[in-house]
Amino acid sequence: MFGMPISRYGASSVFEQSNELPIPSVNKNEVLVKIKSTSVNPIDLMKREGYGKTIFEKQRKQLFPWILGSDVSGIVKEVGSKVTKFKEGDEVYGSSSSTNIGTYCEYAAFNQNEIDFKPSNLSFNEAASLPYVAITTWTALIRWAGIRPQDLKDKKVFIQAGSGGVGTFAIQLLKYWGAKIATTCSESNHALVKKLGAEIAIDYNTQKFYELLEDYDLVFDCLGDFGGLDSVGNCLSILKAEANSHYITLNHPFLRTIDKKGLVIGVPSALKQRQQVKKEAKPINIHWSIYRPSPSGLSELSRLVEAEVIKPVIDSVYSLKNIIEAHEKVGTSHAKGKVVIEVEKND
Ligand SMILES: NC(=O)c1ccc[n+]([C@@H]2O[C@H](COP(=O)([O-])OP(=O)(O)OC[C@H]3O[C@@H](n4cnc5c(N)ncnc54)[C@H](OP(=O)(O)O)[C@@H]3O)[C@@H](O)[C@H]2O)c1
Repeated sequence: MFGMPISRYGASSVFEQSNELPIPSVNKNEVLVKIKSTSVNPIDLMKREGYGKTIFEKQRKQLFPWILGSDVSGIVKEVGSKVTKFKEGDEVYGSSSSTNIGTYCEYAAFNQNEIDFKPSNLSFNEAASLPYVAITTWTALIRWAGIRPQDLKDKKVFIQAGSGGVGTFAIQLLKYWGAKIATTCSESNHALVKKLGAEIAIDYNTQKFYELLEDYDLVFDCLGDFGGLDSVGNCLSILKAEANSHYITLNHPFLRTIDKKGLVIGVPSALKQRQQVKKEAKPINIHWSIYRPSPSGLSELSRLVEAEVIKPVIDSVYSLKNIIEAHEKVGTSHAKGKVVIEVEKND
């Protein structure tokens, strides 16, 4: 099959075209998807550069060529013997963080729990823009922070970086849960984040959110320590000093520590570091979030998309052969919503 794998770590130029990639075989719980569209997530850029390799290299069946990409929309080609929900020809979408599943290619075999039927009101390009960011948000709030939708009714929530892939989804979900949302982004994106449901939009280029906001219940930080340690401290400073306050970050030192120190020393060291950070922030609850598969999150996404509560926000669409340009766009850190890859023409 055709695909754009990498054979070494590095800049976006490491992508190579290949027509020689094997079509994955399906095991009993897997579904082979003929890919129509995928999308670029910042984690793809980080993996391309070698982030997390201490763990990811151990998980991979082969080191290189490595096919990146997590989101999928497409058509079922084949199902494993234990799959009853899907059949050949079904239109599906979903995402995976498995290092053995890549979507910058024509076919991928997904575990049946990581896909669902594509909402009929979305194109394939739109459908591929949502699963990874939606499940990231879902697992961050529900799994890591233990928050239930009803807990956030009328609560004050600050979303750092509201105009990106995760932020544009998170604003819509948290607005639906009844939260009062403030967010940061460039001024040119204020109209967008307000339309999605934010009440307050702050231009981080000219204003300091921590001088404008106080007594918040939740910070959902899509910038995390990429914004520097001061940025994390500034987020904590706007939270109520209460046991019901939560700070969730998507960027934290966990995998970086393991990469730096190696598995044996790195894992206990990262766990200790996280414990220390949690202890110092008490009574505020700190959560270092990591994407985890969530069948319930994906099925709730399908429901909310069909009810038109959640709408995709697409920055741009590239062909798979132009994956380098797509990665460079995401690498600017100024994508407005999602950068989508159209693997097979579908609109
Ligand atoms: N832990 C996990 O499992 C996990 C999962 C998914 C994502 N993440 C991480 O979460 C982050 C967000 O992901 P994403 O997909 O939303 O990324 P993205 O789409 O690339 O985010 C781009 C957005 O970030 C905004 N931005 C850039 N610098 C900012 C700043 N200093 N303050 C506020 N906003 C700023 C930009 O706003 P303007 O253009 O308006 O300036 C742009 O809209 C990434 O760093 C990613 O690695 C982690």
